[in-house]
Amino acid sequence: MAQYKLNDPDFLRDPTSVLAQMREEGPLVRTKLPIIGQCWATTTDAATREVLKDEALFARNPANAGGKDISRYYWFLPRFMRPLTRNILSLDGAEHKRIRAAVDHSFSRAAIDALRPEITQVADQYLDQLDPSKPVDITQDYARMLPLDVISALLGIKPELRQKLSRAIAPISKPTGIIALFTAMPGLYRTQKLLRAEIETIRHTQRNGLLSTLIHDASNDLSDDEILSLAFVLFIAGHETTLHLISDAVFAISDGAKFNEPTSLAIEEFMRFFSPVMMTKPLFVRETHERFGQTLQQGDKVIAQLIGANHDPDRFENAAEIQTDRRPNAHIGFGFGPHVCLGMHLARTEAQIALERLFNRFPDLERTPKNAPPVYSERYGFRGMKTLKVNLKP
Ligand code: HEM
Repeated sequence: MAQYKLNDPDFLRDPTSVLAQMREEGPLVRTKLPIIGQCWATTTDAATREVLKDEALFARNPANAGGKDISRYYWFLPRFMRPLTRNILSLDGAEHKRIRAAVDHSFSRAAIDALRPEITQVADQYLDQLDPSKPVDITQDYARMLPLDVISALLGIKPELRQKLSRAIAPISKPTGIIALFTAMPGLYRTQKLLRAEIETIRHTQRNGLLSTLIHDASNDLSDDEILSLAFVLFIAGHETTLHLISDAVFAISDGAKFNEPTSLAIEEFMRFFSPVMMTKPLFVRETHERFGQTLQQGDKVIAQLIGANHDPDRFENAAEIQTDRRPNAHIGFGFGPHVCLGMHLARTEAQIALERLFNRFPDLERTPKNAPPVYSERYGFRGMKTLKVNLKP
């Protein structure tokens, strides 16, 4: 069994040769990943889509694949974490649909389009705060702040709590193995504690925002634990991922990628090329069966490798090149099937506004030192800059 280091700095800088090597082994390869352990990983666009679509044979909750419920599956997690593991990402069928239906409308294209003026205002406010006479870290000072403020406002989290939450979850961004996961525990504990307290406050007050609607609207029947785990996923997924897309795009543009109108095409290409979320959470095989020339045993874990699909040469011509006018561009960087990203319209809109406002104001922006190599975040499964120093007005 080949072991592929899918968060190795070399892989993150240029995954082409490793992805080709994996693809040569077949559409589904056996490998071992940190935290997840032994698993299968898809390597092609067709195999990745097939696995993500086939709910009858692949489950999110191991309870539906002959195992324990997800809340007991990760036995090493402390008790306070258990309700959080039963979240939208790890549930199947009717249970998943019920949770998703409670929040779907808040992330529709129309709902997100209505937020454009507010998102633009947030972008401008952070750009006003940048000092063009000094090097700026685009990742931490801009790309992180914009999605953090937008998702917090959408959820109705108080402004003074946003930074505290972001600081609390920062250590969670690092886990690369079991030991690192344990060091993330205090951060996870603090995050859920802050969110729990905020939900309690909202329960007793009137407040705008999605959390208030979830708590006070009698038409949905989410339990307290369900609201907490949803808030947790929305807060983290709502800013950690978009942060990566924005910083990856700034890197690519400062490296010569074109960012012309319509900028929406460029955003899709950055999504495809970088695949900021490189793989999905594990799926569990419901029944032993043959697929892609392999025998999948009940309970086996399968990772849908989105970056493998997005770099599949059978699907994309010159897949290893950034072509910001690529059309069509049927990437699956936001996933595929029933768990496709809930926040994709929000992410696209935020990235488009963030980049347009940044490059309109600072069209000559340059990395410093000039041509500095990318420094990727160590978070497993993600591909985004840890830091990205630029001169706004070189
Ligand atoms: C699901 C990527 C931004 C909320 C997903 C999935 C991917 C993804 C690949 C599927 C994971 C799987 O199948 O296991 C991204 C990327 C983003 C982004 C690359 C930014 C560039 C956002 C934002 C939100 C969000 C802004 C804010 C609400 C979610 C949620 C799910 C999800 C709630 C779970 C959906 C479900 O299980 O039904 N995302 N996402 N994401 N994303 Fe995003």
